Amino acid sequence: MKTLTRKTGLRGTIRVPGDKSISHRAVMFGALAEGTTTIHGFLKGADCLSTIGCFRAMGIDIEEKNEQIYVHGKGLHGLSAPAGTLDVGNSGTTTRLISGILAGQPFSTELSGDASLNSRPMNRIITPLTMMGAEIMSKHGNGCAPLLIHGRPLSAIHYDSPVASAQVKSCVLLAGLYANGETSVTEPALSRDHTERMLRAFGADVRSEGNTCTITPPETLHGQHIEVPGDISSAAFFVVAALITPNSEILIRNVGINPTRAGILEVCRAMNADLTLENVREAGGEPVADIRVRTSRLRGTVIEGEIIPTLIDELPVIALMSCFAEGKTIIRDAHELRVKESDRIAIVSENLTAMGADVIPTDDGFIINSRTTGEQPAALHGASIDCAMDHRIAMTFAIAGLNADGETVITDSDCVDVSYPDFFQQIESLYTQDL
Ligand code: S3P
Repeated sequence: MKTLTRKTGLRGTIRVPGDKSISHRAVMFGALAEGTTTIHGFLKGADCLSTIGCFRAMGIDIEEKNEQIYVHGKGLHGLSAPAGTLDVGNSGTTTRLISGILAGQPFSTELSGDASLNSRPMNRIITPLTMMGAEIMSKHGNGCAPLLIHGRPLSAIHYDSPVASAQVKSCVLLAGLYANGETSVTEPALSRDHTERMLRAFGADVRSEGNTCTITPPETLHGQHIEVPGDISSAAFFVVAALITPNSEILIRNVGINPTRAGILEVCRAMNADLTLENVREAGGEPVADIRVRTSRLRGTVIEGEIIPTLIDELPVIALMSCFAEGKTIIRDAHELRVKESDRIAIVSENLTAMGADVIPTDDGFIINSRTTGEQPAALHGASIDCAMDHRIAMTFAIAGLNADGETVITDSDCVDVSYPDFFQQIESLYTQDL
């Protein structure tokens, strides 16, 4: 449990933990590559540790030394059958990506996670994998994990995905590593492209054209050195904290700004945020920058359409930011928020309302009317926040608590360990350090 109270003047320079999506993929592709993959900046959050646990259980030696992770890959055909059920914890990325790999193995596996994970939709991967000839079943027949996968040779397909989901796209591309020809996926809007970028770096032939990408099964993948940039989804909490907390200025170093992830930066600009990118560069095949943010007088905006997949994980904290913007903010086309670690449309609306905000949940988003009047900030008040064990909800409402009267109590605050174990220490460091 954590209790937050109002603060002003957040100041300091921070580094956020490594990107979660890139950390997962580095371990997975490293395990399937020949030779050793070294990972610098790996996120040691519970989700990525679930991925490590699964590959160790399939015979991959993964060590940590000198602040780096070493994955001793055994090649595309080097995994061995795990002794028991693979534990995917809270991680949708582990589950959906690993299922693509498992579908093509010469052994059977069962995977299962925590209560949240085991209630998330898996038909979105069961459908395309079945089209490829895989044998994959939801154990309880409810379209969710536990999943039973009997690996076998796969057929190449073209898949028209009904959702813009990097997890679905990556699942099909990874199954494509084991298929008998070119496998391609078209998605309705472009989702994060870390799989495509990293598979190319490992030597696979992956082509992207518009919203379609195609993989030709490689003979081998080759171990790489991966520099994991800071996670923009984690940086987002501090971006919003600096924007809405009076008299603040924060510099966040080394954040990944891949265009398929950086929609929040565009939204901040549209909302009149004082946000600048410094030292823009490329590291490990991904664009990175330092982000400087200062308290700003924000204005409402409309967030919809193709930008949604590029900021999907940031929408809870963007909803909070909108409470501090002059006028109305409308967020649409974000149905996917309903099937994340929690129903984020419901839980964000309930908790913001409990804090006194004017938020209307819709089927696919929110309508937020801010109570900002003139120079006055939105009048939120503290509340007890049940975050349904969802890490991004806990962090969103911690930032809300810094900008609310009275006490904000985050009851299940430990769930931040999923993606950001040092989150609360880093918030505290911003009351005490100078730039
Ligand atoms: C992720 C993709 C997104 C995102 C999740 C991580 C990934 O999920 O919400 O946190 O690493 O591929 P969807 O693919 O379900 O949109």
